[in-house]
Amino acid sequence: MYSVPKLEDYSPEALDTASRELLEALEQESAAVQDEAECKALRDRWMARKNGILTQINDVWLKAAPSASKRQAGQQVNQLKKQVEGMVEVARKRLLFREMPATEIDGEMVGKPLVEIPVEALDSWLATQKLAAERIDVTLPGVHRELGVRHPVLRTMDEIVAVFVAMGYSVAEGPEIDSDYYNFEALNFPPDHPARDTQDTLFIAGQERRPQRDRLLLRTHTSPVQIRTMERLRPPVRVICPGKVHRNDAPDATHSPVFHQLEGLCVDTNITLADLKGTLDHAMKAMFGSSVKTSFRPSFFPFTEPSLEVSISCPFCGEKGCSKCKGSGWIELLGSGMVDPAVFGFVDYDPAKYSGFAFGMGIERMTMLRHNIDDIQQFFLGDVRFLEQFS
Ligand code: DAH
Repeated sequence: MYSVPKLEDYSPEALDTASRELLEALEQESAAVQDEAECKALRDRWMARKNGILTQINDVWLKAAPSASKRQAGQQVNQLKKQVEGMVEVARKRLLFREMPATEIDGEMVGKPLVEIPVEALDSWLATQKLAAERIDVTLPGVHRELGVRHPVLRTMDEIVAVFVAMGYSVAEGPEIDSDYYNFEALNFPPDHPARDTQDTLFIAGQERRPQRDRLLLRTHTSPVQIRTMERLRPPVRVICPGKVHRNDAPDATHSPVFHQLEGLCVDTNITLADLKGTLDHAMKAMFGSSVKTSFRPSFFPFTEPSLEVSISCPFCGEKGCSKCKGSGWIELLGSGMVDPAVFGFVDYDPAKYSGFAFGMGIERMTMLRHNIDDIQQFFLGDVRFLEQFS
């Protein structure tokens, strides 16, 4: 292994010989480099600041030179530095070349040539290789990401909300877990009133000790938001309350323990049944087409008096009678009525001064009618094949 000799003779010839021997030694070592570790060892051995061969020749040759030869030796050492650095770099590139795999581009092997590349050409060869390896085929199809879409139930909800917003209504919201007071009592369902049985209720467990009005439940309808809104605002009130509701119903084609409703409430001076009918007639035409008609029949809800069941003429057969409307030509769609004065009593509205109407509709049912869907469960199964139809 080469080691730096002391120089006795500083004649130009002697310096040349010493330099040549050094470079030959480096060339041999560099040609023997097989992997990255050896490449690094080579660089350290020759170029390390602390005791690399370049540092040694600086100490052993230059510093020891007699003053008459200092200049000459200095130039020689400087030149050697450049040569050594260059050769160590070449060793690295040779290694790169050796490790570079052949690549196939456009069906052609752009790879390592069979013969070793001359050192002078290594740089440009490596650059070409790098470009080739980084080439991108812009004609390949891209990665296609499907865009999400609104769930059909929420789309119907958005549309019906927009219809009422256009009539000057604002949107109000309330909690999905509410108390017996808001869900029933203030809506004029007295405790033990049979009307409660029509809304099979899911109660939060472990509240037997609480007074009944404070017991928590999953709201069975959006009507409690009427009460919360009237507690908050004085008339005139025009709000719609979209939201999720829960009932202890076994799931089947027309029932789901969770579904959505849109509630509406309008309270002002001189609100009459004619306002209710005009408003709902307009909303149904906006949702199902201007040719549908509405029909109002007496019904019962504890919080409205009188109460009205609203039907629309069957959008499938136009009143002729078909399987969708069970031959009747009409489809029952929502509940409504004039706000019962007893309800005003719970929120300190003066029933002698104010009157109002309210309504509530099921959003899944409307969506099923609009898209001819026959199973409410489809909305909750999360089957992409079903949902994709609405994209
Ligand atoms: N809350 C009723 C239900 O879920 C629907 C309803 C009927 C809401 C009449 C109203 C109304 O606001 O006036 O069955």
